[in-house]
Amino acid sequence: LLLIGIFALVAYLVGAVPTALWVGKAYYGIDIREHGSGNSGATNTFRVLGKKPGTIVMLVDIFKGWTATSLVGFLVIFNAIPAENVVPFQLLYGFLAVLGHVFPVYAGFKGGKGVATLLGMVLAIQTEAALVCLGIFIVVLLISKYVSLGSMLAALAFPLLMLLPWFRPEHSTTLLVSFGVIVAVLVIFTHRKNISRLIHGNESRANIRFW
Ligand code: G3P
Repeated sequence: LLLIGIFALVAYLVGAVPTALWVGKAYYGIDIREHGSGNSGATNTFRVLGKKPGTIVMLVDIFKGWTATSLVGFLVIFNAIPAENVVPFQLLYGFLAVLGHVFPVYAGFKGGKGVATLLGMVLAIQTEAALVCLGIFIVVLLISKYVSLGSMLAALAFPLLMLLPWFRPEHSTTLLVSFGVIVAVLVIFTHRKNISRLIHGNESRANIRFW
């Protein structure tokens, strides 16, 4: 139990690393939370600082979710949990990493919106479903140019995908669907200002041209 607790703390601390804030401060001398949308995330890093730092923050934030979720492998190796109980612990550790990203202890609990970290976590647990969610995100982004709308629709899609026969996991279906619903609610909550801007027509559009 001690090991489960220690890794839970590590999962939170990994998720809490405020990548966008630290990259902005270390290399550009700015607090990303005072620029653009004010969000400490990959999207705002792209917006305020450009492609290179944006890509780095995005990859690190995805990696945080993947790493925290994968810590469960150690629980199995150390016989702390039986191998068939992996999914609930992956969900717990991944969720703690997402919470860490949104409420980071190193940055006054003022973090990002959890999307990239969530993607990393879902990639580790349900890779195919994660790729479909990523596809939904990209399509919505390309059509609407709203990153926030893509993020929210992709997050809402996950629990629905878990109900489909093609994705339905062998174990823990109820748990995955419930987790998906909780996470979708969290993502809607972290995007509350974006929702208000979308309704009022002043959400900023991404400056992307793929065609
Ligand atoms: O992943 C965050 C994104 O959905 C919105 O970010 O900076 O446009 O509020 P931002």
